Amino acid sequence: MKHYRPSEDIHMTSRRTFLKSSAATALLSLTSFPAKPQEKQRTYSLVAREAAHAFDGATKSNLWLYNRRCPGPTISAKQGDTLTINFRNYLKEPTTIHWHGIRNLNSMDGVPDLTQPPIEPGESFVYQFPLRDAGTFWYHAHNKAWEQVARGLYGPLIVQPSIPAPMNRDIAIVADDWLLSEDLQIHENTLGNLHDWSHAGRLGNSLTINGRFLPKIKIPHSGPTRLRMINAANARPFVFKIKGDTEIKIIAVDGSPCSHFVPEKITVGPGQRVDLFTEDCSKLEELQEVSTGQAYVAAKFIRGPANADNRKWSQSETPYYSFPNIKDAKLISIRMQGGAMGNLGSAEFAGQIIPLRELAMKESKLWAFNGKIGGYTLNLAEVSVGDTVKLDVWNDSAWPHAMHLHGHHFWVDSKEFGLTARQMLRDTYLMQPGERATLVFIADNPGQWLFHCHMLEHHAAGMGGVISVRI
Ligand code: C2O
Ligand code: CU
Repeated sequence: MKHYRPSEDIHMTSRRTFLKSSAATALLSLTSFPAKPQEKQRTYSLVAREAAHAFDGATKSNLWLYNRRCPGPTISAKQGDTLTINFRNYLKEPTTIHWHGIRNLNSMDGVPDLTQPPIEPGESFVYQFPLRDAGTFWYHAHNKAWEQVARGLYGPLIVQPSIPAPMNRDIAIVADDWLLSEDLQIHENTLGNLHDWSHAGRLGNSLTINGRFLPKIKIPHSGPTRLRMINAANARPFVFKIKGDTEIKIIAVDGSPCSHFVPEKITVGPGQRVDLFTEDCSKLEELQEVSTGQAYVAAKFIRGPANADNRKWSQSETPYYSFPNIKDAKLISIRMQGGAMGNLGSAEFAGQIIPLRELAMKESKLWAFNGKIGGYTLNLAEVSVGDTVKLDVWNDSAWPHAMHLHGHHFWVDSKEFGLTARQMLRDTYLMQPGERATLVFIADNPGQWLFHCHMLEHHAAGMGGVISVRI
């Protein structure tokens, strides 16, 4: 039984000082408190290697992990900090790390052969970047991600606002869906399976929360609690339900705060995050996964002693930036095609039009944007820094896709949480078959940014391209 949350660290000092200064002020709305981000360096070390881990607390599974932990260690920092990650690759193949959702420096974005050379076995790389936004993020391998993430290379990255919630009220819940053999080893024969690549991606048979089957998640005895849900699965969209007679609100998606609302359902697509909040956690019983139509118990909540930290804190409802004026927006149109039961007969690959059947057999390519098999060399568009961009995306395929844009958040009429669409700022949008969506963003971050499906097999099989933001 393990539950991960931001580690005890230097935030304690600033909060104690703050409390001492005036106990009464702490009860007022903290959003109006002038933010004085004191820039600090936060440094972590990560090592990727083969390591054993027991999902059930007993049986050793051979995985690829960061610091031998599953999920990898929680990287915790404060908004405005500069994060330094000293990384070493002890795998037998090259890798990189992507900091999903961070509006990052392009050179630190961790896309092999696009933003950096792959990090070879035995080599190291220093990732260093400022943390512009507070929120729930995660990090994961981005070289052959369909295999490296499936084997366990990911972890949570939590960026706290200037006045964070008490530690024990701020709980990260990392969900994964593993495809395991009967002896709980990674099912290796199906890695790279073309059937998965052309259908829904690699779907697992074993659900873990924070690296365990059916763990007990420790929450406070009562009072307000924030749950940071992260979907680290290769391809499975989760739908969660929380059993317990209390109101649960969504307060942030993909890191960015949103106006708080009670959802009809809590959908978390691959790569996405959803932050939940309850005023009183004393009634929480269990976390269920209901995407299959049946309630599968994913975790149980257990309460700690009654003396928990009861200080109030406030939750922002202000997104990273507001919906921009789209009068002069640059339009990028993307028709997503391919896969099984699709309408793509042939596609352009390496300058030639090739039948899809042949592409599948010879190149393991199955998906296309605008008739072209995608990859790090497929240029989708070039825009200039400061442009407002309207990305019109049409999922003209028979499968859902979790579309992720690197380096930016976009506005979208999000349909993940019930029948009514909600305009939200996200970095990953789960699109249904046939759906058309408009993703609106301000291209304020120069560099070459991937736009791809976060069903990792789909990306590997061609569903991805690059948007260049020029200075
Ligand atoms: Cu979380 Cu390009 O990925
Ligand atoms: Cu996809």
